[in-house]
Amino acid sequence: MAVRFTTLLAASLLAGAAGAAQAQQKTFWITVGDAAYAQLKKAAPQAIARESRSLTAQEKVHLVEVDEQQMLKLSAAVHNELKRCGGFMMHRSEAEGLATLSPKTQNATLAPVLVRPSYALDNQSAITPLVPQLQASNIAQTITDMSAFTNRYYTTTAGVNASDWLKNKWTTMAAGRSDITVTQFTHTGYPQKSVILTINGTDNASEVVVLGAHLDSINTNGTTETTRAPGADDDASGVASLTEALRVMLAANYKPRRTIKFMGYAAEEVGLRGSQDIATWHKNNSVNVVGVMQLDMTNYKGSANDIYMYTDYTDSAQNDFVVKLIQTYQPTLTIGYDKCGYGCSDHASWTGQGYWSSMPFETSFTQDNPYIHTANDTYANMGSQADHALKFARLGLTFAMELGSDGPGTAIPDKVETFSGSLTSGQKKTFGPFKATLGTFKASTTGTGDVDLYARKTTAPTTTTYDCKSDGSTATESCSINVTANGDMYVLLNGYTASTYTLNVTYKPQTP
Ligand code: BES
Ligand code: ZN
Repeated sequence: MAVRFTTLLAASLLAGAAGAAQAQQKTFWITVGDAAYAQLKKAAPQAIARESRSLTAQEKVHLVEVDEQQMLKLSAAVHNELKRCGGFMMHRSEAEGLATLSPKTQNATLAPVLVRPSYALDNQSAITPLVPQLQASNIAQTITDMSAFTNRYYTTTAGVNASDWLKNKWTTMAAGRSDITVTQFTHTGYPQKSVILTINGTDNASEVVVLGAHLDSINTNGTTETTRAPGADDDASGVASLTEALRVMLAANYKPRRTIKFMGYAAEEVGLRGSQDIATWHKNNSVNVVGVMQLDMTNYKGSANDIYMYTDYTDSAQNDFVVKLIQTYQPTLTIGYDKCGYGCSDHASWTGQGYWSSMPFETSFTQDNPYIHTANDTYANMGSQADHALKFARLGLTFAMELGSDGPGTAIPDKVETFSGSLTSGQKKTFGPFKATLGTFKASTTGTGDVDLYARKTTAPTTTTYDCKSDGSTATESCSINVTANGDMYVLLNGYTASTYTLNVTYKPQTP
């Protein structure tokens, strides 16, 4: 309590010293990793971390209060210096930022019900004839229309209007379908709304499939009311690809068994803010989202392969399914793999809540559209074509119609494994890998003597490198790790004195 109060006092004194205009300046709370924090300290030395917490034994996350200018400087610095974009997450308040850092809250962010789809391609007779109906010309039109807004920044009049425009477009397309609703999701702190089109499922409506793209844009030189930020590729192309998939599904009068939601997220470019609210809302309301696909940048063909599967902040089992969709419905396309190295788009918001998410992308990470976040991110600078985005529209349709056409998925039961033995003083024993999927990984011991317990994701722990440790003075120890993506889990037992142990390991297995 005292610490928090002193912090606030110091913050307001600092703001006061910088003058009245500065005191009025709206500030944001962001969490950044070590590399981005180093850049921030260079770009905006006044920004000091309020709280830092170890993510792993090697890497820390820092909670920092920044104003809008500092945030944009950070974004530019990270982009230029680290040769990548962003790398931070935005929070509405200090409390919300602290909650993100806190391991307690992380444990609370498990998927409400773990229900894996079968991923069987069992709707080919309905889907195959629809694939040729998707048209690049319609995608081109949507890209052109969205780029015509001066910008689609999350605070500007044009940014608000772009959201209203998309709501109206989707509403018009869904006319006459009483099973479809189009709503706007209102966010706190800025006027741009996200847009959500929901096709209610017929007999498995509680399981939800999400396809998303962000409707906002940014010019990283600073975006005001009159700044040009056409965002044709980033991310009118994603919205346009989804809109064309939707058009063909509606033309076929497709009625899914699962509920399908199409989303145009607000405020992605300023820290995934719209999608964070929406993914959190789904989690808090225990919505059983069984799969998420993010389309962010689909129309710039800058790499050899057609579609790149991004492997970080995504789910590998669902990614394998997406690859099967490409191989089955677009067999002439080639597939590559890459990663952003940070939560670069809205898929990361869903992954952060424990949902299964994928992001098929236009290029490898370093060969993406060089014009994004500038006035030159235009349709013309993509060669005035939408042929590349068409591949992603087809992929979106096949994802929606394969996952949308299933009955209930299978709840994943806990797997429990038990090991017993003895340890001499100082003896260490490693267990694993335990192939775990989303859920809580828990290791606990009972026995005689004094056993210390360590657990770690991906690689075996040591007594100094671990994600979790429990080292009381008896043989009764317990350690939990929130598994937010498929991973190899390891346990290390150390006999602090000569001991006997029974080790129980409980987790959601990748395969039953
Ligand atoms: N579409 C980009 C992400 C992207 C850019 C992916 C280039 C791959 C290659 C997205 O709109 C974006 O700009 N994201 C921010 C991060 C976000 C947390 C603000 C970024 O990458 O800087
Ligand atoms: Zn962007």
